[in-house]
Amino acid sequence: MLNLSNINVSYDGSRILRGVSLSVPEKSLVCLMGRNGVGKTTTLKSIVGLVKSDLGSVKLDGAELIGLPPDVRARKGIGFVPQGRDIFPHLTVWENLKISLVVHGTKANGQVDRVLELFPILKEFLQRKGGVLSGGQQQQLAIARALLTNPKILILDEPTEGIQPNIIDLIGDTLLKIKKEGKISILLVEQYLDFCLTVGDTFYIMDRGAVVAEGPIAHLNDEIVKKHLTV
Ligand SMILES: Nc1ncnc2c1ncn2[C@@H]1O[C@H](COP(=O)(O)OP(=O)(O)O)[C@@H](O)[C@H]1O
Ligand SMILES: [Mg+2]
Repeated sequence: MLNLSNINVSYDGSRILRGVSLSVPEKSLVCLMGRNGVGKTTTLKSIVGLVKSDLGSVKLDGAELIGLPPDVRARKGIGFVPQGRDIFPHLTVWENLKISLVVHGTKANGQVDRVLELFPILKEFLQRKGGVLSGGQQQQLAIARALLTNPKILILDEPTEGIQPNIIDLIGDTLLKIKKEGKISILLVEQYLDFCLTVGDTFYIMDRGAVVAEGPIAHLNDEIVKKHLTV
């Protein structure tokens, strides 16, 4: 459903991504892993449309996304939860959700209720300012906001970073629930190995701007972990 082929990205003349190719099949959860600074976020930005690839292609259900601006890609079904969450701290939870609907020109139509069912705490805190929520609650808000755009694929950048274990479990359960419903595929950038082992179907590992290992999650053995993931 999502296919990246030979993506190359440079910042100020230095090459950051060197021929990245990866696929997210329908109904699956793919983990993109790797140490800090190897190019995981840049890979996601090339899908979302926030950086330009010099060559290669990004296809969603066979249609080329390269050259399209981020808002058009979002409307075609790319849902993005950025690293650090990026919610509006001075807006309430409800306003944060509503903005997403306005930006995407979609009507609420009971969707808000459906999404809030996944995250009961947000329902309770609809009138609180985003900025006073805990990190885990902000992460739930960011995921809920992305789901409201009705994505075909949900892309998350390190959703467990700096978050309490019980909320990590809740986020994991939610991703599994979304996957099980079968309408949304998931691409997850994650450094927390156990989380990937719990929720993932397949993995890709990046090192210095390139994919260096890939396979079914059950093939992620100690040797690969030691070589490419441990610091
Ligand atoms: N806007 C930018 N300008 C210049 N260099 C950048 C920029 N963003 C990221 N980089 C560099 O690109 C490399 C990959 O970064 P990133 O994709 O954020 O890695 P990761 O998400 O795997 O930690 C790093 O060396 C980083 O310093
Ligand atoms: Mg990153």
